[in-house]
Amino acid sequence: MCALALSESILKYMIPWLDLDWPLNPEEIYGREGPLVLEIGFGNGGFLVEQAQNHPEALFLGIERSWGAAQRLFKRLEQMGLQNVRVIQGGAEFLLQHAFKPDSIEKVYINFSDPWPKERHHNRRLIQQEFVKLLGERLVADGQVTIATDHAEYAEWICEVLEGQSALVSCFDRTRVNELPGRSPTKYERKATDTGVPINYFVWRREACVSLPPVIVQKVEEMPNVVLSGACDRDTMFGDQRPESWVMTKKGVDVVIKLSRVYRDSEGDWLLEMMAKEGAFSQHFGILVLRRADGGYLVKLASMGHPRPTWGVKQAVGKVAELIQVRFPQMRVEESNVGE
Ligand SMILES: C[S@@+](CC[C@H](N)C(=O)[O-])C[C@H]1O[C@@H](n2cnc3c(N)ncnc32)[C@H](O)[C@@H]1O
Repeated sequence: MCALALSESILKYMIPWLDLDWPLNPEEIYGREGPLVLEIGFGNGGFLVEQAQNHPEALFLGIERSWGAAQRLFKRLEQMGLQNVRVIQGGAEFLLQHAFKPDSIEKVYINFSDPWPKERHHNRRLIQQEFVKLLGERLVADGQVTIATDHAEYAEWICEVLEGQSALVSCFDRTRVNELPGRSPTKYERKATDTGVPINYFVWRREACVSLPPVIVQKVEEMPNVVLSGACDRDTMFGDQRPESWVMTKKGVDVVIKLSRVYRDSEGDWLLEMMAKEGAFSQHFGILVLRRADGGYLVKLASMGHPRPTWGVKQAVGKVAELIQVRFPQMRVEESNVGE
């Protein structure tokens, strides 16, 4: 079989989740119904592909931070001709919170997630109380999560987290087991087995009486922009602009906005390089400041970086408009959609 061009693989397998309403609608994405199965951090994709082959009725979704890993998976999917696998590139914590409905996921596999052995990095571990609670809320009744690790200290940590919560209960009469007969090994699992390192498996299911949160729908919103009028000197608008950052809070979530660099094109328009971090979700994007035919200025999101117009991104557009007004106090806001 011919390899697909990367652009075609992206269209075929990646879910353009930033452009879709949240929570996602699996039926629309896969074109049919089926039990939804997630693998978080699929690495080389071997395990995910094998599961998808063995369970053609199910809808498989791989969540991975690494773009290289996603590309390796595309190749495997094309070689195997599998139609029931899709990929999202991103962090599982944010995705599980925003992109999936409560009571919607049949199974979750978390295979050999990074152990972050240094104590000062323990807060980066995926398995945390909050995350397990979220798993419990997103799984269907009796839905299962399987966690595997070959890191002894991380295994103790996972035991403590699982035993200290009530959303999930063990499928065994113990917290963990050292063998799961019939399981297809991942790359890390094979390495551990070959070198004699013991593996800990945790297979836990949703407790029937877990209370489910309401579904929070987040529609893709219109692109933020601000129109300013009044006299100003376009040449000095951002000429000596230094990096700047703003910290705020929205519904208990820390939001950090950063302006790093400014550029100017041959037409004299300005482009500002921005970043918005909302909780665990970061976006890098540009904001354009364009002169309009009527002499006013339009501050708007550039299409580069393809940002989702979240609250933080809207605030960034508003902050750039404010910077202009600080330099040129006579300028007025004529139109804006970046308010609350
Ligand atoms: C140690 S590797 C294990 C790969 C594979 N599961 C295996 O067992 O061979 C961990 C993988 O998880 C991914 N990862 C780490 N944190 C993640 C997160 N929060 N969300 C999604 N993927 C993550 C990493 O990019 C990496 O590919």
